[in-house]
Amino acid sequence: MKDIRRIGVLGAGTMGRGIIQLFAQSGYEVYSYDAVDGAVAKAVDFVSGLIERAVDKGRLKREEADVTLARIIPCSDVAEFAGCDLVVEAIIENIDAKRAVFEMLEGVVASDCILASNTSSLTVAEIASACKHPERVAGLHFFNPVPLMKVAEIIAAVRSAPEHIAALKTLIESCGHRGVVAEDQPGFLVNHAGRGLYTEGLRIVEDQCASPEDVDRLMREAAGFKMGPFELMDLTGLDVSGKVMSSIYEQFQQEPRFRPSPLVAPRIAAGLFGRKTGEGWYRYDNGQRVDSPTAETPALAGTIAVWVDPDADQCAALGELVSAGGARLVEQPADAELILIQPWGWDVSIYCAERDLDARRCVAVDPLPGLDKHRTLMISPVTEARCRDAAHALLGQNAAVTVINDSPGFVCQRILATIVNIACNIVQRGIASVADLEDAVRLGLGYPAGPLTLGEQVGGERILAILEAMELQTGDMRYRPALWLSRRVRLGQTLLTAEAPRSGRG
Ligand SMILES: NC(=O)c1ccc[n+]([C@@H]2O[C@H](COP(=O)([O-])OP(=O)(O)OC[C@H]3O[C@@H](n4cnc5c(N)ncnc54)[C@H](O)[C@@H]3O)[C@@H](O)[C@H]2O)c1
Repeated sequence: MKDIRRIGVLGAGTMGRGIIQLFAQSGYEVYSYDAVDGAVAKAVDFVSGLIERAVDKGRLKREEADVTLARIIPCSDVAEFAGCDLVVEAIIENIDAKRAVFEMLEGVVASDCILASNTSSLTVAEIASACKHPERVAGLHFFNPVPLMKVAEIIAAVRSAPEHIAALKTLIESCGHRGVVAEDQPGFLVNHAGRGLYTEGLRIVEDQCASPEDVDRLMREAAGFKMGPFELMDLTGLDVSGKVMSSIYEQFQQEPRFRPSPLVAPRIAAGLFGRKTGEGWYRYDNGQRVDSPTAETPALAGTIAVWVDPDADQCAALGELVSAGGARLVEQPADAELILIQPWGWDVSIYCAERDLDARRCVAVDPLPGLDKHRTLMISPVTEARCRDAAHALLGQNAAVTVINDSPGFVCQRILATIVNIACNIVQRGIASVADLEDAVRLGLGYPAGPLTLGEQVGGERILAILEAMELQTGDMRYRPALWLSRRVRLGQTLLTAEAPRSGRG
């Protein structure tokens, strides 16, 4: 395995700067070159500024700062990369430009130098095929800002030498980052696993089940995510995320799981990119998001007779909650003015039709987040306003409530099941190991846990039931459960159970 000491960084833009800083801080000699005059000097100034600030704040000793900065070697000619053990390319995301620099680099560096690309969306094998020795080429995908995002994806292209992949992993982990290894597949790990949040969030809005703002709020307050899909799109810019959605869909040969939403193109055409254009899914006033006011909790008019479905997961707790709020519990749905149900994966209409319950008096409560957190109520097209308001009044006294329209699964159920299903498919296809996928998503996307762990928290059986119900109700292939999921559920195993090693050849 190659011992990496000297690293060349080609391109000194947003990513190049971060990569330079990370390697210099971790004790490596870093050579920096950029095609544009002055770009390297600007990058060095930028990194020095950050390091000086750390000294001022007492987070770094003066001597350490001086040693770190002395490790950065600005180059005026790429020929100065000749003695490097590794070159990391971080130039513009263009296949022809990348192939040209890789071909050029092979003529500059020694025969055992590793060449890595920071590409986020191109096929590493296509870049490598410009080289005489494609086995020396791999992907090394960092996230912005590089020193703070503690994970890098190491992409093993079809011809990459395994010892180079191992050397890159050792290097990344020596910098205090987690090095996750992924196959050269569209979106690698993080951008692939991150699809579900967007596709399902958009689908929920497309079907008029909830507003973008409500979806975001539920993902934050009920599911524990840092951000919901719509605020994320506004932050990244819909012009950028829209392209990623289409490109991953096309690269996966129009896999229905990644089918982009028709809501996106007209918004891009209208310039509703998000924060950078002042309007996206939200409006921004002087950079500040303008949120719509939350709905007031209605007052309960007198006592109301409530029947709680005995099949509800939280039947007892729901009963106690509504009684404390002033409801009178009844034994039969026929005697109730309000019927409370807790379906997994089913909408109110079908759940009621199948059990002969009166949908006009029915409101569903999402069992997934539990009753302590933000509560989601779901109504059918015929649920009467007085029943909706009574449920909101009873459940909104000591917690926030969001009311959504009928949907095959509540917001959190749909999005979480989609995320878990995509993750199951990633490991089924051997794109990464279970541990690498889990860490990549946690560190790269900031989800509260890895996607398979999130699935375990809900329960594999539940996730499978949600997906099967969604597929049945919508007829949409995007919800078909991954084999990884259905096999493990049927075998009574956790979703984190790896494939058994195959014996024999190949
Ligand atoms: N910005 C991100 O959040 C992010 C995250 C992960 C990966 N990436 C990937 O990293 C790469 C760089 O992205 P960025 O955001 O740093 O771009 P950037 O535009 O900020 O920087 C690119 C730099 O490369 C230089 N450059 C262009 N052609 C060159 C050449 N032939 N030789 C030497 N230098 C050249 C440019 O002058 C510029 O300074 C892209 O492949 C991108 O997809 C970006």
